[in-house]
Amino acid sequence: MFWKEMEDYVRIFDTTLRDGEQCPGAAMSEDEKVEIAQHLAKMKVDIIEAGFPVSSPVQFKAVERIAREIEGPIICALARSLKPDLEAARDALKPAAKKRIHTFIASSPIHMKHKLDKSPSEVLAMAKDAVRMARGFVEDVEFSPEDATRSEWEFLRELVEVVIEEGATTINIPDTVGYTTPQEYGELFHFLKTKVKGADKVIFSAHCHNDLGLAVANSLATVLAGGRQIECTVNGIGERAGNTAMEEVVMALRTRKDKFGVETKIDGTLITRASYLVKTITGMVVQPNKAIVGTNAFAHESGIHQDGVIKNRQTYEIMTPESVGLKSNRMVLGRHSGRAGFKDRIIRLGFDPKPEDLDNAYQRFLEVADKKKEIFDEDIIALFQSETRKTGVDEKYELVSFEQTTGSEKTPVSSLTLLVDKAKKQSTSEGDGPVDSIFKAIDKITGVYPLLSRLVISPVTEGTDAMAEASVTIEYEGKRVVGKGDSTDIIEACAKAYINALNRL
Ligand code: KIV
Ligand code: ZN
Repeated sequence: MFWKEMEDYVRIFDTTLRDGEQCPGAAMSEDEKVEIAQHLAKMKVDIIEAGFPVSSPVQFKAVERIAREIEGPIICALARSLKPDLEAARDALKPAAKKRIHTFIASSPIHMKHKLDKSPSEVLAMAKDAVRMARGFVEDVEFSPEDATRSEWEFLRELVEVVIEEGATTINIPDTVGYTTPQEYGELFHFLKTKVKGADKVIFSAHCHNDLGLAVANSLATVLAGGRQIECTVNGIGERAGNTAMEEVVMALRTRKDKFGVETKIDGTLITRASYLVKTITGMVVQPNKAIVGTNAFAHESGIHQDGVIKNRQTYEIMTPESVGLKSNRMVLGRHSGRAGFKDRIIRLGFDPKPEDLDNAYQRFLEVADKKKEIFDEDIIALFQSETRKTGVDEKYELVSFEQTTGSEKTPVSSLTLLVDKAKKQSTSEGDGPVDSIFKAIDKITGVYPLLSRLVISPVTEGTDAMAEASVTIEYEGKRVVGKGDSTDIIEACAKAYINALNRL
């Protein structure tokens, strides 16, 4: 179908689960990928790139499960321009109602010579064969000339023309190394759209990396040049400096529709939750001043700004917090709130709770409410998500209680009681700090001694009684897992996160 005959909007191609996962430390389990994919489907993402099936059996299984379980978006799998890759993509996508194979081959002189050791004509032939084979498997085929922005334009024109002749339906032009600029990238799109035979039969897509901090600006520039798909990730996670941030392009196109003339179909009110989910699962924190989803993105600190916002929010707000799913009326529940009120709030926050998750989360809510007078939406999201993350995980280890002695002149010592397969075990350990001592005490009981590769502690809300959320990444016998824990006590949050990670191993 000619794209001009199709609805004119910008398709959101989310690659959090593929390019996003490629960044150090962001590997996700199969269940976590499905959880993210479910949320992306709810947000009305057009295409979910679920993974690179040939790269490992784990990747294959995750793509297959997403293809089977996720309804709504097109499910896409990545493949090099090689037969085994394309066959793996076809097989993994089999259960999907709507499927796409995304095949790529490098087109820049530096990649062709040093990485592929292939001549331009060999690359041309491989791309042609790959797209033909992919079209034999599925109707929807995307082709990417990798490192397109450092490729010769005339060669790109020829390559793109050949793959369109073979039936490619989307042409993605990756800025693989984050090298291009908005003007140059827009001109490249204009060149390809006007010079390539058959350009009017396909959708042109942007795929940007953020090495120079230009990924979002570059992606938006292509919309002005006729691009109608943007590849992006939640929170902009991805290789090196990351990929185009989905929340930023969505809100830029929406807020400045006067300039772009088109926008996306994304439900913006689910952006904050998407950000939170990806942050929680990957353990990759979001900088406070990050556009749209940073904790300060809608905070007005200076007196002049606050005065203006009180008089009229539009003085300093170009979009509302509600439009991205942040509630301005944040104070919600307290210790006297009943189960019905708690359930109602969970549902209004966009969750679809299972009865057992609701029961566990409500018990946790009561515990937190005993320690903290005001429970905010962010607290509820954190505690609900941490309870649901336990579902399906074998709770071999459970924290019963702990005590610590510490101080500026003292070596920290932790004494702790754990349930191991429901039997109580106790241990005591010194450490280099309070967290180190409690982790060592846990190790003494479990006998596991994993490598701690990352520990992030972040407050969920403001104030000294705020809930803290800890994310712990551990590695053991070739496996890498992320555990989460929350509490009004940061040491307890860390201990719970460590135990959650051990249970996930
Ligand atoms: O950055 C890149 O070039 C990619 C391709 C596989 C599309 O991720
Ligand atoms: Zn990429």
